[in-house]
Amino acid sequence: MGSKNIHLEPFDKGTITKLEIFEDYAQAWIPTFVMQPHITEIHIFDFFSGPGYDSENVAGSPIRLLTKISEHLGHIMSKQTRIVLHLNEFEPTKKKQDKFELLKYNCSNYLSQNPKFKYFLTIKFYNENAEELFFKLTPIISKYPSLVYLDQNGVKFISQEYINKLENLKTTDFLYFVSSSFFKRYGKTEEFRKALEIDVSELEAEEYRNMHRLVLNKMKSRLPAKTELKLFPFSIKKNANIYGIVFGAKNYAAVHKFLTIAWKRNELNGEADFDIDDDNKKNQLTLFEGKQMTKVEKFQSDLENKLLEKNSVTNEAVLIYTYQCGHIPKHTEIVLKRLKKEGKLNYETQTPYLTYENVFRKKNIITYQIKK
Ligand SMILES: C[S@@+](CC[C@H](N)C(=O)[O-])C[C@H]1O[C@@H](n2cnc3c(N)ncnc32)[C@H](O)[C@@H]1O
Repeated sequence: MGSKNIHLEPFDKGTITKLEIFEDYAQAWIPTFVMQPHITEIHIFDFFSGPGYDSENVAGSPIRLLTKISEHLGHIMSKQTRIVLHLNEFEPTKKKQDKFELLKYNCSNYLSQNPKFKYFLTIKFYNENAEELFFKLTPIISKYPSLVYLDQNGVKFISQEYINKLENLKTTDFLYFVSSSFFKRYGKTEEFRKALEIDVSELEAEEYRNMHRLVLNKMKSRLPAKTELKLFPFSIKKNANIYGIVFGAKNYAAVHKFLTIAWKRNELNGEADFDIDDDNKKNQLTLFEGKQMTKVEKFQSDLENKLLEKNSVTNEAVLIYTYQCGHIPKHTEIVLKRLKKEGKLNYETQTPYLTYENVFRKKNIITYQIKK
């Protein structure tokens, strides 16, 4: 499969969605570490940077990263946090590395407009094959709080060797971009089998729109049983193809950030830029089946059943369950408040304390009593 030189064209809608999710994540990630007094240095890696802009001067990932860094300038300066940005761009089939030259030029130009960058930011440029550079840089990735973007044109980076490396890292959050539906077309080829072995019958049985979910579930199934790594998908439709982001991190602070961004983008399902489960149609009554449940309603119904089976449960356990199901506290809070009103569940506090801040930061752990 030949890769397309996307920068000869303007970014399409799906690419913009991807870039916005990348930058929204950087926006949430940077202050988390900058505000921690004991952290003096953070690293961001963009292994497939591109030249910086598309053909219509719309910013690509490296320029968006610089913009996000500049938006946090005040805090970064006051906390004196060092930021190291690793930008790599390489065209494997070309002798002249035009995109790499453009990347350096565009970033330097951006920096020259804001002289304050020089006090805290170092950019390291690389013109290497990301497949090798990734392994060279893992000692740095593992040493510092790191954010890793793998915006490949393809599927290679979901292969086991890369996942194993990322699985070993502690304070690393990563975002992959994967051409998921290409598995349906090229799944039997050597390149794809090497990346992720998916049964042909599985591929054939799965609906096209679920291809990215299938890829993510395959990746999950290959993680060690006791892994702390949590993976979440975001499917992106581009014409007839399904692409997707795989988000990975080990801590719930990161999961909370990613899920908040994903549900903000799509309040219907929080995991795609389209109506992946036909939820919009589920609001209508069907003659024989009645009303089908939407993704959020199904989660809330399952949660209610689970809660009512118990005698008591902590807000921490319920919050973790919410995240594990790929949902946000808002969806759960509605159920808790209703059950309290109906006299089926009780908590002494005014609110159920079901927020990231209460559970993980302030350690306000409370117990919900279920009335039998
Ligand atoms: C999907 S694009 C990334 C776009 C970029 N993030 C942006 O916002 O513009 C993939 C980029 O990776 C580069 N590339 C392709 N193969 C590569 C490799 N093996 N190592 C590093 N870069 C590669 C391509 O030249 C292309 O610019």
